[in-house]
Amino acid sequence: MAFWNRRKSIDAMHQASDGPRLKATLSWPHLLALGVGAIVGTGILTLIGVGAGLAGPAVMISFALAGLVCACAALAYAELSTMMPQAGSAYAYSYAVLGELIAWIVGWSLILEYSLVVSAVAVGWSGYAVGFLTGLGIDLPTALTVGPHVAGGIVNLPAVFIIAVVTGLLLLGTRESATLNAILVVIKVAALIAFVAIALPAFDSANFTPFMPNGFGAPFVQTGVMAAAAIIFFAFYGFDAISTAAEETKKPERDLAIGIIGSMLICTALYLVVAAAAIGARPVESFAASPEPLALILREMGQGTAAQWIAASAVIALPTVLLAFLFGQSRIFLGMARDGLLPTRLARISSRGVPAVVTVFTAIVVAALAGVMRLDELASLANAGTLAAFAAVGVCLIVLRLRDPGRERKFRAPLFWLVGAITIVGCVVFFLSLQARTQFWFLVWNGAGLLVYFLWSARNARLAKHPDQAA
Ligand code: ALA
Repeated sequence: MAFWNRRKSIDAMHQASDGPRLKATLSWPHLLALGVGAIVGTGILTLIGVGAGLAGPAVMISFALAGLVCACAALAYAELSTMMPQAGSAYAYSYAVLGELIAWIVGWSLILEYSLVVSAVAVGWSGYAVGFLTGLGIDLPTALTVGPHVAGGIVNLPAVFIIAVVTGLLLLGTRESATLNAILVVIKVAALIAFVAIALPAFDSANFTPFMPNGFGAPFVQTGVMAAAAIIFFAFYGFDAISTAAEETKKPERDLAIGIIGSMLICTALYLVVAAAAIGARPVESFAASPEPLALILREMGQGTAAQWIAASAVIALPTVLLAFLFGQSRIFLGMARDGLLPTRLARISSRGVPAVVTVFTAIVVAALAGVMRLDELASLANAGTLAAFAAVGVCLIVLRLRDPGRERKFRAPLFWLVGAITIVGCVVFFLSLQARTQFWFLVWNGAGLLVYFLWSARNARLAKHPDQAA
């Protein structure tokens, strides 16, 4: 069967596959914690500054736009992940709905997303960790705390360090990691609520004028509200990491819908309040370039102790994001390897239920990138991968409703035309609003991916060898 005709059968997805299996140990509280744990991170803690620098106080609109697109994507994910509760997320849905080639591009983009999120969040962690230590009177040398893009910087060692720690945790096993994750999520959310409680009394509406100093922006205009939304988008995703754990959930139809939609709602509400409190407390210019904007705002308000607490909770709790994305990355890889698109050798599961080889390999690559690259560049490129995957999920939602309207849907997205269209159009516009360099590297990454596909994967695909298993 030619590769462009190869689609996976949704019915076959529900039957046991002959590859290595993962144990079903998670239920919805775990997934909600996994979701909020993966979503709340460097986006709200650090990129809020980058976004405010691009849009001014109108970054509030950027938050709302990014939240709207992600909420629609979340609805599409919820419908698809309960229909196909198989490890692999957007990649797996695309394989069943849009065919192998698109699935490959989506899977390859997801590998980019999950890997670079780990690098970006590690750099964000480093910013708060260094600020925290400085607050304790411990000054680390600049050369070893920032990459070469900053004067005097050589390598961001704290970022490399935290990736090593999280990799170790993950290798200890999913269950332990998920429980620890739940505790850390509570700390992280409590810190943001505390920030709002302290910053809001200092609210000054004068900080909101001029509201939109750089204009609204448009595709290919790399400043203004849209450019900020394209980067702030980073703050909202992570709920897709939940769907990569679908195979390990006890009751996927209920647990996934609660986990995905619940975590999305909690985070959107939290972000809008945090952004309003931050801008209300201090003029945007004062924190836009900071590696630890929320701590800086509190310090400038004379709340040094609170700033230390915020930094400490970021240091303790940000690793939950790393954990979720490193976990998700190995699951995407596992899904693609099971389908014969990547070498199975690399996806072998250790006695602790973790695909150890791919986890360690990914960790080494992302640690190297975190050591030398800029946060906003890492985050933008991660966004490009995510936008490709979300757009594909929007297309899958619509195509499957039209092609297979009678199939059982344990969760139905409301107004599927609108939800699908907002997801697709939103992702395309955000992609076009990213920096030109980011768009270029995204195309290079996928060009390399297509080479791998045509030279190796298309011939080794399970469906190429077993056409009877295709749809
Ligand atoms: N949403 C995650 C974060 O902001 C990736 O860190």
